[in-house]
Amino acid sequence: MTTIGILGAGEVGSQLARAAVRTGYEVVIANSRGPESLAPLVRELGPAARAAAAVDAAAAGDFAVLAFPWTRQHDLPVAQLAGKVVLDTNNHMPWRDGRIPEIDAGERTEHELRQEQLPGSKLAKAFTHIQAPSLFRMARPAGAPDRLALAVSSDFPEAVALVTELYDRFGFDTVDHSPLRESWRSGPGTPAWRRHAIGQTREELARNLALAQRVRLP
Ligand SMILES: NC(=O)c1ccc[n+]([C@@H]2O[C@H](COP(=O)([O-])OP(=O)(O)OC[C@H]3O[C@@H](n4cnc5c(N)ncnc54)[C@H](OP(=O)(O)O)[C@@H]3O)[C@@H](O)[C@H]2O)c1
Repeated sequence: MTTIGILGAGEVGSQLARAAVRTGYEVVIANSRGPESLAPLVRELGPAARAAAAVDAAAAGDFAVLAFPWTRQHDLPVAQLAGKVVLDTNNHMPWRDGRIPEIDAGERTEHELRQEQLPGSKLAKAFTHIQAPSLFRMARPAGAPDRLALAVSSDFPEAVALVTELYDRFGFDTVDHSPLRESWRSGPGTPAWRRHAIGQTREELARNLALAQRVRLP
């Protein structure tokens, strides 16, 4: 059975854990306060899930998810994530995260910066333009005429393939907008991101990614 190490147990991390357990994965989930604080969530998730320190969740995962904002000073378990696909769900929000000059100037994306922090990992931007609570409501079986799509962006085809399979198991089609330097096309404020509450089909998402204009904050 495949194990996902989920670092971050807020809205996104906990909902991805529910979807993962429901679709046959094992989950090791962590937050910043320690595994004891996750006892109620782990009880809800059942025997396919356990809580751990972030470093142990990273080590246990066949692949990992980062579900918390990027910071310049970080305590990421770089060694434990090396060699693995790492999904980054972060959206840079200046009102929450403060100004990050290279992102705000439109020169880099938060995901390129995170890839630099994890040089031995294969980073993929994923799950960033869907509201976490909508994950189950929007899911549809493969081939359903109203199936929606989610974007992925990575510098590694292997990471794109893994996310495509995960999306499919969770009930979504995939639109690939690699490489990572193109990941701004689904970032906050773009047409694709603004549809986070209602979703978009594969064709709509591809169109919205193409329509994106880079936001540069003054
Ligand atoms: N909410 C959404 O629907 C949504 C949708 C798409 C993308 N996003 C993006 O996804 C990211 C997460 O959003 P969220 O709403 O889930 O945030 P959140 O509810 O604030 O949860 C953040 C989680 O990350 C944990 N955490 C922080 N630093 C950590 C570290 N170094 N190692 C392990 N865990 C750590 C926190 O633990 P403690 O509570 O113990 O501090 C908390 O469990 C954000 O960048 C957000 O913009 C959110």
